[in-house]
Amino acid sequence: MKIKFILIIFLSLCAYSFENKNEAQKILMPFKKELMKTLKTSFKNGGVAGAVDKCHVEAPKIAVKHSSKSYEIGRTSKKYRNPNNKPEKWMEGVLSDYEKSKSKEGRIVDQDGVNYYVEPIYVKGLCLNCHGNLSERTQKLISSKYPEDKAYGYKINDFRGVFWLKSK
Ligand code: HEC
Repeated sequence: MKIKFILIIFLSLCAYSFENKNEAQKILMPFKKELMKTLKTSFKNGGVAGAVDKCHVEAPKIAVKHSSKSYEIGRTSKKYRNPNNKPEKWMEGVLSDYEKSKSKEGRIVDQDGVNYYVEPIYVKGLCLNCHGNLSERTQKLISSKYPEDKAYGYKINDFRGVFWLKSK
């Protein structure tokens, strides 16, 4: 009993928690920057096809690279392309809220004792190349890598999904 109690205290002291949004945003920034840089460079070098190839391989790796012992980092969306980005059940409520409110504000969420930061993502012109109304060629290319792709048909300023940070 005593050991269990001490363990709980110890774990709660260890668990990382985002004190405020600023801190979470600071952690998220390099991940966002690297994703965008990779997208833009691969687009310049290889057009849509080159960029899809690159994102397919690099996006998950970049998320792992920017995660740490204290937190995990990622993206999710109800209309996801990569099934590994499928939202957890509770997250669907957060996604619906943003869909309705179109808020640009990130928020800190405590879910089942786990501390998260989520930040909304909206569609820009560049995104339409791969998430808008796709040409047949692009559609084929994407569905060869993501047979269950749902992440197309978006318009500018549509809510696309969120970045999330999860404390460990
Ligand atoms: C060159 C094609 C391409 C462009 C341009 C592009 N994406 Fe993606 N997007 C992808 C691919 C491929 C994935 C799946 C990558 C992965 O495994 O996370 C993806 C995944 C995502 C995800 C994660 C959720 C999911 O659907 O799996 C979000 C959010 C996202 N993109 C938003 C955007 C936004 C916002 C822009 C514009 C700034 C953008 N994308 C531009 C190809 C693209």
